Amino acid sequence: MSVAEPTGHPWPRLTRRPRPRGCAANRCPRRPWAIRSRWWTRWGDGSPGGNAHPDHPDFLAFVPAPGTVTGVLGATLATGFAVPTGWRFTGEVSGAVESATVRWLAELLGLPPGTSGLFVSGGSTANLTALTAARDALVGTEARGATAYFSDQTHFSVPRALHLLGIGEDRVRILPSDAHRRIRLAELRRRVAEDRRRGLRPFLVVANAGTTATGDVDPLPELAAFCRAEGLWLHVDGAFGAPPR
Ligand SMILES: Cc1ncc(COP(=O)(O)O)c(C=O)c1O
Repeated sequence: MSVAEPTGHPWPRLTRRPRPRGCAANRCPRRPWAIRSRWWTRWGDGSPGGNAHPDHPDFLAFVPAPGTVTGVLGATLATGFAVPTGWRFTGEVSGAVESATVRWLAELLGLPPGTSGLFVSGGSTANLTALTAARDALVGTEARGATAYFSDQTHFSVPRALHLLGIGEDRVRILPSDAHRRIRLAELRRRVAEDRRRGLRPFLVVANAGTTATGDVDPLPELAAFCRAEGLWLHVDGAFGAPPR
């Protein structure tokens, strides 16, 4: 293959110059297939073992799931077709696959008909997306005085998302959890009332359906009733615990 070089571009000179020793390009394997076969042998023996390798048979648990054959097939197809999936117009089929899969997941999780959703890259982006919806729906983009509540067992991506949305530490209430590492409802009620008295605008409670550290679940029905009565948005972070339901 020949590639036209732009006139005066230093590229040909640079590529002919010997690379310094230790430069990353010089450390690239000459025969990568040989390395790969050695890797597969070791993997088959189980020698890497342990929790550091999510794709290892000895691996017990962590956030990334082990790879599956279906996953490989799906990723291969997606890479091969390289459809821009940012909006339905350019990715009609992938949009339809997303809608159908969201419907299946909603059913598996026991969510009511009419539930909608979308796939994002992971839990942090999911939290950011959901909290953006909450902010826009209840307090607008300025979010003046908007305050949010969750337990000290909540994943750090939640306060980080709020920070990105313009809701800083002074309006984020991290409540101490109880002996079962669940949010304390009485304390939540007290803090919301106190903030209202101070002229702030409570708008959001984040609950955990499986905390990252211990997998504990906040009292969801009670929180739902409280949020409904108080006009608050209830976001349930199920990144860790919803799938096993
Ligand atoms: C409860 C919970 N929420 C959010 C996240 C963030 O997910 P991700 O690492 O996919 O961004 C995690 C990750 O451990 C989590 O356990």
